[in-house]
Amino acid sequence: MDVQAIYIKEMIERAKSACSSAYNIYSKFPVGACVRSNIGKYYDGCNVENGSYSLTICAEASAIASMVNGGCRLVTDVVVFSNLAAECKPCGACRQIINEFANDSTKIHVCDVDGYNIRTILIRDLLPEPFILS
Ligand code: THU
Repeated sequence: MDVQAIYIKEMIERAKSACSSAYNIYSKFPVGACVRSNIGKYYDGCNVENGSYSLTICAEASAIASMVNGGCRLVTDVVVFSNLAAECKPCGACRQIINEFANDSTKIHVCDVDGYNIRTILIRDLLPEPFILS
């Protein structure tokens, strides 16, 4: 198994654990995410819903906020996991949030509800033309 495969497995375990912390009392849909920064540190997040629905924080947004709070500004890998849906991919807003701290090689990894059958997609392919303030 190559080095990347080993750390993706660890990230899936972390995303699974984060998924079990989801505050999802309205949708009942749990999501966990784990992001890896360019210095190899991991940050996790889960969805945090709100009675005012639109204030819900997605798992990926939560993990990215944690990474930035930890002093990192570049994400190399993102794992998104839900035990209720195979290949749970970031929503449009989360693609833009990930993109803010991504480069051309930043990867999104999705898997099945058990954490297997991993599929890897570049953020550039998920969000080919991001909004850029310039
Ligand atoms: N959700 C995420 O956490 N990440 C996404 O990329 C899409 C959706 C959450 C938001 C809400 O709590 C639940 O999934 C159902 O939409």
